[in-house]
Order: sequence, then C-alpha cells, then structure tokens
Amino acid sequence: MNILVTGGAGYIGSHTCVALLEAGHTVIVADNLCNSKAETIDKIKQITNKEVTFYKIDVTDEVALEVVFATHKIDGVIHFAGLKAVGESVENPLEYYYNNLVSTMVLSKLCKKYNVNKFVFSSSATVYGDNKVPFVETMNLLPTTNPYGETKAMSERILTDIAKVNPDFSVALLRYFNPVGAHESGVIGEAPNGIPNNLMPYITKVAKGELDKLRIFGNDYLTVDGTGVRDYIHVVDLAEGHVAALDKLTAGVHIYNLGTGEGTSVLQLVKAFEEANNIEVPYEIVERRTGDIASCYADVRKARNEIGWTAKRGIVEMCRDAWRFEKNHK
Ligand code: NAD
Ligand code: UFG
Repeated sequence: MNILVTGGAGYIGSHTCVALLEAGHTVIVADNLCNSKAETIDKIKQITNKEVTFYKIDVTDEVALEVVFATHKIDGVIHFAGLKAVGESVENPLEYYYNNLVSTMVLSKLCKKYNVNKFVFSSSATVYGDNKVPFVETMNLLPTTNPYGETKAMSERILTDIAKVNPDFSVALLRYFNPVGAHESGVIGEAPNGIPNNLMPYITKVAKGELDKLRIFGNDYLTVDGTGVRDYIHVVDLAEGHVAALDKLTAGVHIYNLGTGEGTSVLQLVKAFEEANNIEVPYEIVERRTGDIASCYADVRKARNEIGWTAKRGIVEMCRDAWRFEKNHK
C-alpha cells in the first residue's frame, strides 16, 4: 500500500517508516520538522535501502496537504504529527489544541475527499487517566490532567464520529504506553530538544555525563518500591504494531493498547539500564511531579487476539538500544 505518514521524521514515525518499508509498503512522509530533522529521512533510506517521498509541510495547512493527496494514490494514513510535551501543553494550550486537533480534522477531510479509507491514529494511554490498572480498551476514559491528553481524547472522538456516518472508513486508535529504545542499528532513535521530559532519554543523558543526576519524582506511591510504574515498550515493537493494525484494518473503529502488559518502576528501570550497559546512573529522590499517576500498564489481549501483534523485546533490549543510539548521536 501507499501510506502517508504524517510526523514520519519524528521518533515513533521514523521507526514506523522503517517497519512499513520492510513490510513492502511505499511511504510518503509529511512533516514540518518542528521537532525533528530532515536527515532522519535519509537515515530511514539508509537502513532500508528503499525510497521515501518527503514533503516538508504543516499538516494543518490544507492547501499544502491536498497537493500530497492529489499527487499520490494514497491507500492509508498514519497520523503521528502532533505536539507531545505535557508540561508545554499546560503553558500553551491553544498551540496544542490547534495543532493536534486541526491536523486530525484536515487529514480526515482530505481522506474523505480522496476516498482514503484507512486511518491509523497515534493515541496515548494518557486517555485512561487514573483508572485501575491494567488499562483495558473498554474502560470509560477519565479526564487527563493536561491539554495534550485532552487533544488525544478529542481526536479519538472526532475520528469515531466521522466513522459512524462513513461506513467504509476504517480507523485504528492506537493507545501507546511508554515508547523507549531505538532501532538496533543505532542510526535512528529519540533525540529530544533541550532537557528531556521523559525518563529514558533523561537516563541516557545522565549516563553520558551531559546531566549530572536523574531526579526521581516521588518514592511514596503505592507501588512495588514507591516509584512510578509504567509499561515501557520498545519503539520497534510499537512500529510493528502499526503495520499489523494497518494490515488487519476493517471498517469501523478499532481501539488497541500497544504496550507489553508489564509494569516497571523507575528504580527498576534505572537498575536494568545500569546492568544492561554496565554504567552508573546517579539519582536522587525528589517531590512527586504534578499530574503523574502511580501506575500505568496495558491489558494487551485485544491487540494479540485481533491483529496478531505482541511486543517481543524486553527491558534489557530497550536499555541497550536506547544507550547505543545515545552514544552514536551527537
Ligand atoms: P515526535 O515529536 O518525535 O514526532 C512528531 C513529529 O510530528 C515530529 O517530526 C514533528 O516535526 C511533526 N509535527 C508536529 N506537528 C506537525 C504539524 N502540524 N505538521 C507536520 N508535522 C508536524 O513525537 P513521537 O514521540 O514520535 O510521537 C508521535 C505521536 O505519538 C504524537 O502524536 C504523540 O503525541 C504520540 N504519542 C507519543 C508518545 C511518546 O511517549 N513518545 C506516547 C503516546 C502518544
Ligand atoms: N520520571 C522521573 N524522572 C524524570 C522523568 C520521569 O522520575 O526525570 C518518572 C515519572 O514520574 C514517571 C515515569 O518516570 O513515573 C515515566 O515518566 P515519563 O515522563 O517518561 O512518561 P509518562 O508516563 O509521564 O508519560 C508518557 C508520555 C506521555 C504519554 C504517556 C502515556 O510522556 O505523552 O507516557 O502513558 F501520554
């Protein structure tokens, strides 16, 4: 299939482009590079030895995006493009609501106009709010604590309502848990601008000596050791989940958790990283971070049963691959 990948130069998008190309699909990327670099497109080509068509455009720009739809016979879209920093979304809600919602609406509108019926959307486990773990797709969603999370819940609703009145429209809402790691080549990975917000990129910067120590946000949660528990998933497994969802997509709306089903605490992840890479990660315990929940992990049965996908890579591979990329990356 010819797949339009919005945000394909980003962290998850670039790994998914590799997985799509390796599965025999053709990839067209639309990305405005607001949080990524054009050289990532070359790296995708380098890893796969395949061609990628790249448009440096903003997905909220309907006129620019329509050129892509008019030029290529697109069979499906995977919509990664979006802003994702939780704290920034609280500081600048309008930018988040505008970017993340208008992009979804413009893309859906063009899909309808050009008769593109397969739509895969990057959602997040954040839509479960502080439900009881493990999170199951049938749970009622709870309010999230920030505009970023709200854009994910709203985009899910928008796509669901569109599908209700367009019986041929096939939508996969993929709720990611915590993507970490990098492609095993060490060529592509997560390279956030500035000081990382997320745990794994923070750990790799501390290990590299670029930051002096990790600050662990709270050790008084009701968890195995008091630190927050998350379902870390290798980004290559996550990428493969998109290919599986796209291949199996049928009419209607299908929601899938993409996680491993395993919870890992902050301290357990730090220890696993130290052991996997034989390197020390100094840390201190500080106050809880506002908006954090104690535990977040997936019930993974639905994706396994319906699209035949399960995560294959464990914590050790996630830690090794994250570190390999960080060492290679300038
Ligand atoms: P990323 O920032 O690395 O990638 C997003 C890409 O979208 C970037 O390349 C950016 O330049 C591009 N982009 C943003 N707005 C755009 C616009 N208006 N037009 C064109 N391009 C635009 O982020 P990521 O981690 O790869 O996340 C991809 C998607 O998955 C996002 O929608 C994110 O919200 C979602 N998600 C991520 C996580 C996570 O922890 N990384 C968890 C759950 C969901
Ligand atoms: N943590 C620290 N120190 C840090 C960073 C994080 O102790 O410097 C802790 C957090 O308190 C939390 C855990 O590490 O317990 C994971 O935190 P992340 O910031 O890496 O990830 P979150 O679970 O908070 O959020 C991530 C994405 C969201 C997405 C969510 C889905 O950032 O966009 O996963 O589950 F919605």
